[in-house]
Amino acid sequence: MRGFPAPGPGLLPSRSSPSPRPVTGLLVLPGPPPLAYAESLNRFFIHPFTRAASPMTTPVESTPAAEPSKGYPAQARRTLSGIKPSGTPHLGNYLGFLRPALEMQATHQSFYFIADYHALTSVRDAPALRESTLDLAAVFHALGMDFDRHTFFRQSDVPEVTELAWILSCITPLGLLHQAHAYKDKTAKGEEINHGLFAYPVLMAADILIYDSTHVPVGKDQKQHLEITRDIAQRFNFLYGDTLVIPEPTIAEDVATVPGLDGRKMSKSYGNVIPLFGDPKQTRKTVMKIVTDSKGVEEPKDPDACNVFALYKHFARPEEQAHWAGRYKAGGMGYGEIKQALFDAMERELAAPRERYQAARQNTPLLEGILEKGAEKARKVAREVLGRVKQKVGLG
Ligand code: ADP
Ligand code: TRP
Repeated sequence: MRGFPAPGPGLLPSRSSPSPRPVTGLLVLPGPPPLAYAESLNRFFIHPFTRAASPMTTPVESTPAAEPSKGYPAQARRTLSGIKPSGTPHLGNYLGFLRPALEMQATHQSFYFIADYHALTSVRDAPALRESTLDLAAVFHALGMDFDRHTFFRQSDVPEVTELAWILSCITPLGLLHQAHAYKDKTAKGEEINHGLFAYPVLMAADILIYDSTHVPVGKDQKQHLEITRDIAQRFNFLYGDTLVIPEPTIAEDVATVPGLDGRKMSKSYGNVIPLFGDPKQTRKTVMKIVTDSKGVEEPKDPDACNVFALYKHFARPEEQAHWAGRYKAGGMGYGEIKQALFDAMERELAAPRERYQAARQNTPLLEGILEKGAEKARKVAREVLGRVKQKVGLG
C-alpha cells in the first residue's frame, strides 16, 4: 500500500496532538510516518466524547461523493464499501455506489469488498454465490479499480471481521438492531428472519471499523446502517477509550435513489432493474419499458417528473441535458426519442467497460489472483485493528 502506512499500535492515544501536516496532494504522495498518521487521525476523526449516555442514533450528514472531503488530510482518507454478491449489478448499484466509489480512488485510499458473508443471510445456492462473487470482481476490474494502489477483496477472506463482529455484538443494545429497516421490513411482511439478518448491521459495523475507514460511499438505503455503525463505534470508545475511528457516510445526493423501470427505487427485490452489463439489444428493450405518463407527443412535458430523464441526466453532459429538458418543455417530443437518447448515452459510457467485463469474466485465474492479492493487504490492516480492540477488551 504505497503512500498509506497501516495505522500503528499507538493509534488514538490522546486528543491533544498538534495539527497534522498540511494537505499537500493526493494519495500518491509518500505518507506521513505512522505517528503523524495517528496524530492526524486523532485530530480529525475522533468526535468529542462525554461520559454522558451516548445517543442511540447519531444523525449523519451526507457529503457529496468524489469530492475531496474537507478537513481530512489526503493521506488519512480511507474509503471503504461493500456490495453483496446476490445478483447481477444494475444501474442503481452503478450510479449510487460503484461510480462514485471508484471515483474516490483519486482522493482516498480505497478498500472495496464483496460482502459474501452478508449475502449468506439470503443466498442458499453455493455455486451461484461463487459465480456472483467472480461477477463482481470482473465488474470492479472493468470499471477501473486500481488493484495495485488500492485494496479489493472478498469479505470472507478476512475472517477476522467475524471476530470483531462478535466483540461488537457484545456491546450492541438489542434496541438498536430492532430499529434496523431490513429487519423491520421483513418482520412487517411476516417473513422468516434468521439471526444473520438481525445481526447484519453489526457485521457491517465490523466491516467498516476493522479498516479504520473514514468515509463510506453508499446509496441512501444504507444510511441507517452507517448510523448504527457510528453508534456502535462511539459506544465502544465510550466504554474502552478511544480505539475506533468514527466513519462518515458519503452519499451522493443526486444519485441517492436511482429509480427503476416503474419509478420505485431500482432494486433486485422489485424486479425493476436495468442490468449494468446486459446484452445491448436486451438493454435497449428494457429501456423502452421505462414507465412514463401517457401524454401525447405534442404536449409539453416535465423532465423533472420523468423516470427516463431521471436516468438520462446521470449519463448526459450538461449541454445535452439542457437540450432535452428544452425539448420536453416545448412539446413535440415523444418518450421513445428520449429513451433512445438515454440508451445511446449509456452505451457511450458503458460499452467499453462491458467489453472489459466480458473478457475478465472468462479469466477466472485473473479474478482469483486479484482477490488473493487484495485479501493479503486487507488482512494486514484487519489484524492490526482487531489486535488493538482485543487488547482493550481484555482478550489476549
Ligand atoms: P439491491 O437493492 O438491488 O439489492 P444492493 O442492496 O445490493 O442493491 O446495493 C448495493 C449498493 O448499491 C448499495 O451501496 C446501495 O446503496 C446502492 N444502490 C442499490 N440500489 C440503488 C438505487 N436504486 N439507487 C442508488 N443506490 C443504490
Ligand atoms: N449492506 C450493504 C448493502 O446491502 C453491503 C455492505 C456490507 C456494506 N458491509 C458493508 C456497505 C460495509 C458499506 C460498508 O449494499
